[in-house]
Amino acid sequence: MARIAVIGAGTMGHAIALVYALGGHQVRLTDSSMKTLDRAQGLMESALATLVAGGEAPADWTSAHLAQAVTRHPTLAETVDGAEFIVEAIIETPEAKRALFEELDRVAPPNAIIASNTSQLDVFPLIPAARQKKAMITHWYTPPYLVDLVDVIPGPDCDPAALEAVEGVLKAMGKQPLRLKKFVPGYVANRIQGAIGAEVQHLLEEGVATAAEIDAAIIHGLALRLPILAVFAKADFTGLALSQAILRNGSYTPPPPRRQSATLDALVEQGRTGVLAGGGYYDWPGDPAELFQDRDRRLIELKQAMRKIGTMAGLERDL
Ligand SMILES: NC(=O)c1ccc[n+]([C@@H]2O[C@H](COP(=O)([O-])OP(=O)(O)OC[C@H]3O[C@@H](n4cnc5c(N)ncnc54)[C@H](O)[C@@H]3O)[C@@H](O)[C@H]2O)c1
Repeated sequence: MARIAVIGAGTMGHAIALVYALGGHQVRLTDSSMKTLDRAQGLMESALATLVAGGEAPADWTSAHLAQAVTRHPTLAETVDGAEFIVEAIIETPEAKRALFEELDRVAPPNAIIASNTSQLDVFPLIPAARQKKAMITHWYTPPYLVDLVDVIPGPDCDPAALEAVEGVLKAMGKQPLRLKKFVPGYVANRIQGAIGAEVQHLLEEGVATAAEIDAAIIHGLALRLPILAVFAKADFTGLALSQAILRNGSYTPPPPRRQSATLDALVEQGRTGVLAGGGYYDWPGDPAELFQDRDRRLIELKQAMRKIGTMAGLERDL
């Protein structure tokens, strides 16, 4: 795509802009908060530095290079001027997204593809009729410069050529687009993550194990096999007769998801909202930017190891 516009420069927007820039595209980035738009530059630079150091971005990519590839703009009209492809990554409220799509309909080039990064909201009813032929969801995972899965969901009237063009761009950047036939809140990976999230809340609230013990069970039990076998290939290795017996025995039926967790409420009440606040379930002293870089360095090493090891499941087995 000659020019890509990314609307929203928060957790996802700045990082998606970086991915497209590294993919060789000219990106314009905006946010309704100038503070967030300014902060985005530093976040992109530190993510880029980690990628370069880890060998996941070309060594000649400097901050100056980045500043040329991603330009920041205060207005929507300037950001989408001449854009072929527009990524919507603003807050997840229907009112804000509807207002933005209506404004885009007024100011964006008529043939621009509009792709929302929505997590749970069905955005298609919020998009004006004139834009439906080029409306889709491209849903990324954080950090998008390291996680390759991108869910691609066509709007009800989306032109297949637009979908193919976007999937081609994603594949050329080494991403793994996964086209779903229709919108479902949470798509595939987030639904499964949601089921895990619901289960850990039960285990924690019922006092079965502490947060650190539950994490240990996931890291040392569940996680090791997932990159190689995921779920269905693991079942093949275990033997499907066991899967069938477990289903038939019905010895454990997960309770409905909790709507509240006393532990979570207490943490939020104390201002322990996560890494950016210095603590959450765990203590996170130190500079959050360094903690994110530390996470990214570890993810890079794991990704590179996985590339070497290979996976035995999935649609495309190369990583
Ligand atoms: N955070 C994640 O892990 C994640 C993952 C996948 C998808 N998403 C989805 O991506 C979208 C963005 O999420 P986020 O986590 O980056 O949120 P965020 O709160 O970090 O960033 C959203 C940004 O949108 C800006 N904004 C709000 N209204 C705007 C407008 N009209 N024009 C321009 N900017 C506007 C806000 O100032 C804010 O900086 C949401 O739909 C979210 O559900 C988030």
